[in-house]
Amino acid sequence: MQSISKSFPGVRALSQVSFRVEHSHIHALIGENGAGKSTLMKILDGVYPAGNFEGQILLDGKPVMFRSPFDARRQGIGYVPQEISVLEKLTVAENIFVGLWTEKGGTVVGFKRLFARAKELLDSIRVQLDPHRTVATLNASQRQLVMIARALATKPSVLILDEATACLTLDETKNLFGVVRHLRDQGLTTIFITHKMNELFEIADRATVLRDGAVVAEFDRSEFDQHTIVAAMVGRKIENFYPTRDSAIGDEEVLRVENLTVPHPHLARRNVVDGVSFAVRRGEILGFGGLVGSGRSETVNALYGRVEHTGRVYVEGREVRVATPQDAKAHGLGLLTEDRKLDGLLFNFAIRENMTLHDLPEVSHLRVLDRSRETEVADRYLKRLSIRAPSVETMVGNLSGGNQQKVVLAKVLFPKPRVLFLDEPTKGVDVGAKNEIYKLMMELAGQGIALVVISSDLPELLALCDRFIVLARGRVVDEFSKAEASDQRLMLAATG
Ligand SMILES: Nc1ncnc2c1ncn2[C@@H]1O[C@H](COP(=O)(O)OP(=O)(O)OP(=O)(O)O)[C@@H](O)[C@H]1O
Ligand SMILES: [Mg+2]
Repeated sequence: MQSISKSFPGVRALSQVSFRVEHSHIHALIGENGAGKSTLMKILDGVYPAGNFEGQILLDGKPVMFRSPFDARRQGIGYVPQEISVLEKLTVAENIFVGLWTEKGGTVVGFKRLFARAKELLDSIRVQLDPHRTVATLNASQRQLVMIARALATKPSVLILDEATACLTLDETKNLFGVVRHLRDQGLTTIFITHKMNELFEIADRATVLRDGAVVAEFDRSEFDQHTIVAAMVGRKIENFYPTRDSAIGDEEVLRVENLTVPHPHLARRNVVDGVSFAVRRGEILGFGGLVGSGRSETVNALYGRVEHTGRVYVEGREVRVATPQDAKAHGLGLLTEDRKLDGLLFNFAIRENMTLHDLPEVSHLRVLDRSRETEVADRYLKRLSIRAPSVETMVGNLSGGNQQKVVLAKVLFPKPRVLFLDEPTKGVDVGAKNEIYKLMMELAGQGIALVVISSDLPELLALCDRFIVLARGRVVDEFSKAEASDQRLMLAATG
């Protein structure tokens, strides 16, 4: 890609970017939230078609023009976008071959053949998924795998993975890496976007760093070094990546949960959360360990009144009933959800409107929304969380993924909760912003807020939390303090 420039109203997303990827390489594209990675890839995929940007694209040395994603796909580009988009009502097979239901010459492919081909493709990338299943019944990681299969269905020469591992489990990521390496040996070129440093070191042959819409550095695998790469990404050195807490933990229990049970949504006599009990004290950071599907998210969702449950919940010593999120908010509970697309944000509304959603009375006067007060609040959070946007009036759907995550965080902080559940708080967030979120968590703990953190980033979980409980198959299987914690102990307990 040569001298690529692209602007949106008020934002120069890319300026004079030249990005060169060698044949049969796995090339990482990295940079802070809002650096322009996804925009560059949308240009390469025809989402922003020829004429919508400046510069030129060359494929195998020849200039190419893509009029649409379909056009790009036909010319050898396989794209897995950052946000999962699937057709919920259709089957896995139909989703994989969407847009390709006709063979050359226009004959419609028979369903039997469609399923057989889907099965073949899934087997070849070692994904165990029934092609007949409706996508609505799949979890986030399975949906992600469907998207990857879809990108590979046309046998592309260039595969783009835009944070495709964000929703995958460790095993699924390992498997995907195996597949990508195998395809590289057969000539596939892969562009790989990630915020996870360990993934970069594991898989990339080369890396290009974008900052503020421009290429600032390029590294060959032999030059990979964590400090140099991070410094290139954020333009400064990060001291104390995991801040240590300097405040004391209080004695009083802010939250006590006894025998929390969540029945399985479909299967009778099975529970996804099965008799979980724990307590959190003032200013304490409690970490939830466990694998995907162990019941961690269901536990916090139940406590926030989003799923039916039984058991007893006490806030500051008083028993409360949380049947709905409104109840939860009224009792001082807050939840940062894992999936910002499904239930975290209103994409077609301004940052300002999203941030104040959970406490409108606070920004109203005589029951009328006070817009200037709202702007004031939103401006404060914009600065505090270093959200990259032209103003608080920017529509959330136009923000980069990581900046959307920060808006969700502001939204849950605004009603000043006493207990905050954080489900994967740094998913899709760049290293600099991760550090800012960690500092914020310490600050909140210092103010006496009790935090319950779920994270599949083990080093992060171990470094930030004061105490841990580990869940497996919906039950608490281990509990230990920071002093007793190690990644081995956590993994061992989680896998039973
Ligand atoms: N459709 C759009 N309208 C307006 N601004 C946009 C649009 N798409 C992207 N931007 C802006 O362009 C810049 C680059 O965004 P982009 O999504 O490419 O970042 P990114 O590097 O992929 O970040 P992340 O790591 O958070 O996904 C950001 O400032 C973003 O707000
Ligand atoms: Mg992006």
